[in-house]
Amino acid sequence: MKNTYYHQLLENNKDWVKNKIDKDPTYFEELSKGQKPPVLWIGCADSRVPANQITGTLPGEIFVHRNIANMVVHTDMNMLSVLDYAVNHLKVKHIIVCGHYGCGGVEAAMQNKSLGLINKWIRNIKEVYKENITELNKLDSDKKRFDRLVELNVKAQVYDLAKTSIVQQSWKNETGLEIHGWVYGLNDGIIKDLKVSMDSTAHLDDIFTLDLEKK
Ligand code: CO
Repeated sequence: MKNTYYHQLLENNKDWVKNKIDKDPTYFEELSKGQKPPVLWIGCADSRVPANQITGTLPGEIFVHRNIANMVVHTDMNMLSVLDYAVNHLKVKHIIVCGHYGCGGVEAAMQNKSLGLINKWIRNIKEVYKENITELNKLDSDKKRFDRLVELNVKAQVYDLAKTSIVQQSWKNETGLEIHGWVYGLNDGIIKDLKVSMDSTAHLDDIFTLDLEKK
């Protein structure tokens, strides 16, 4: 096989390992002992939004789940397994849903183009679009509507996390778990805190509140 970009990735890895060991010979030994990340990150799969780099954090600090448009879909076993493990075993203190302006998934939800299999995933974002159509239609440009739907989608996913029995049980147990909603700007690198954080004092609609016993 000829030397390709693919091979370069493996070379980069060797350089990275050498760099880490030069600075701290026990780096990998220490990291391999276990993880205790304080944060669960639910972000977009977009290659331009890497959780660690944009928050200045290191391996071991953020437990990461990413999918198209940072969705919390209540039938998604992958997301639920990550959430359960992060909350009940790793005992993270914060869950951050991080969306980003210019998100292709959100853009697709605002259009009618049929994209094949992914239509089914995008449909979840379309539901958020529909729920907020009155507010969005008051905005005077497509750009503003797009940006606002990115924010509203993050807010909806924060609320969807609060609807899960996993989060509600954690709140019942008074673990101090907090959920937050952020949006990252691809054009300036700045993270905007949407200030939609929820903790055990959050008021959840009665319809979604589960009767749980403190464990
Ligand atoms: Co995206």
